[in-house]
Amino acid sequence: MIREVKNNVLYVDGCSTVDLAKKYGTPLYVYSENELIGRLEELKRDFTSKYENTRVAYASKAFCTAAMLKLCMEQGICTDVVSGGEIYTAMKAGFPPERVEFNGNNKQPSELELAVDYGVGRFIVDSLQELSLLESICAARGKTANVLFRITPGVRSDSHDYMVTGKKDSKFGIPLDEDVIYPQVKQAIEAPHINFMGFHFHVGSQLFDNTSHLQALDIMLDVVKNVKERFGFDVTELNLGGGFGVTYTTEERKPASYFLQPMMARIEAFFEEMGVKRPAVVIEPGRSVVAEAGMTLYTIGSIKEIRDVRKYVSVDGGMTDNIRPALYQAVYDGVVANKADEPKEEVVTVCGKCCESGDILIRDIAVARPESGDLFAVFSTGAYGFSMASNYNRNPIPAVVFVRDGKDRLVVKRQTYEDMMRNEIL
Ligand code: LLP
Repeated sequence: MIREVKNNVLYVDGCSTVDLAKKYGTPLYVYSENELIGRLEELKRDFTSKYENTRVAYASKAFCTAAMLKLCMEQGICTDVVSGGEIYTAMKAGFPPERVEFNGNNKQPSELELAVDYGVGRFIVDSLQELSLLESICAARGKTANVLFRITPGVRSDSHDYMVTGKKDSKFGIPLDEDVIYPQVKQAIEAPHINFMGFHFHVGSQLFDNTSHLQALDIMLDVVKNVKERFGFDVTELNLGGGFGVTYTTEERKPASYFLQPMMARIEAFFEEMGVKRPAVVIEPGRSVVAEAGMTLYTIGSIKEIRDVRKYVSVDGGMTDNIRPALYQAVYDGVVANKADEPKEEVVTVCGKCCESGDILIRDIAVARPESGDLFAVFSTGAYGFSMASNYNRNPIPAVVFVRDGKDRLVVKRQTYEDMMRNEIL
C-alpha cells in the first residue's frame, strides 16, 4: 500500500483519508487494490509461474466479498471456501465452480449438496463421515467429487493457540494413526463417486518460521509413500494450506518464497526419487494476501483521562469491526490521519464503543495530540476484520472501499439499521 502524507493528511494510493471519511463516513474499511494485486502477483511470480502444475487458492475467509473474489478471478487465482455462504458469494461473483476448493471440519449435508450441484472443483474432506456423506450425495446425482484428505500432521507451530491447527489435538483433519488413516484412504480410492487425489494440511496462521510447514510436509510425504506401497496408488495433488505471517506492527513479513521454495524443493526431490510424476501442488494463503492492503478509518469521539492511569481515546467502531485484539490480543499500529506529520507526543489507549471493557483496539500507542473529531487510521486490518465483524450492540457493519491510483470505489455498502432488522418479525 502506498502511504504518503500531504499537508499533514494521510493518503492511501493517492486518496486522502480525510476525503474518504467525508465521502463514505466512518468506521470505514479501505483497501489498496494495487497492494492486493501486488500480493497476488508475488504469488504468481514465486509459485505458479515458477513451478508448473501449481495453483493458488485464496482463502476467502480472510476477506470474503464479491469484489475481492472478482479480483482473484481476474488474476487467475482460485479460491478456498469453508461454508455454503462463501460458496454462494463465489458463485455470485461469477467464480468458475471448478476453481473453488471446499474446506471445513463439519460441512453440512446442505452445504455439500450445494457444492456438488454447483460442481465445486475440490472437496478437502475432514473425516470418514464426510467421505460417506459426499459419496452418497454424488451417487444420488450421478456425479463424481474430486477429493483430498485433510490430515492432522501433529506438528506444533508458533502462533496464538487459536490459530494453531496442525497439532494432534485438533478438531481439524484426519489423525495419522495407521488404523485410522489408511482404511479411510482405501475407502476413498475405492468409492465409485469419489476421485481421490491426495492430501492437504494447514498447520496454522500468522507464521514466520517455515519449520512447521516443512515438518508437516515430511509427514505428508511419508503418508504418500505408504499409500503407494500399500495400495499402488499415486497421488495427483497435494495442498500445503496457508499461514504465511504478515506485518501488523514490527514483525518482518517473510516473502511467500521463504515458505514455498524449500517445500517445493523437497517435493520435487521426493517424487524424482520415487520415480513418479510430481502431483499438482496447491497453496491457500489468506491473511498474507489481504491484511496489509487494508486499513480502518475511525472518527475519534470521547476522550477520557484517568489521572495517573491512562488516557482513553474512543473511536466510533471497535470489536465489532475488529475482534482480533479482544480475541487474540492482537497488536495493531495506527495514526491520527489528519495529523499525520505532527509529533507523536502522547501515549493513549484507543478503545471502541462497545459495552465491553475488553473492547480495546490499541493499548499504549504514541499519537499526535488526539481531539474529538480527528480521524484515526488503524493499519493492516485487511484480514479477518470485515470477515469476523459482528452486529454486537447493534452496530452496523462498516462500508468497504477499494482505492487505486487516486480513485475510490465502494464495494460493500454500510449496513443500515433496517438491514439489521431485515429478518425480524414484528
Ligand atoms: N487454509 C485453511 C484450511 C485454513 O484453515 C486457513 C485459515 C487458511 C488456509 C488461511 O490461513 P492464512 O493464510 O490466512 O493464515 N481468525 C484468525 C485466523 C484463523 C485462520 C483460520 N484458518 C485471525 O484473525 O488471526
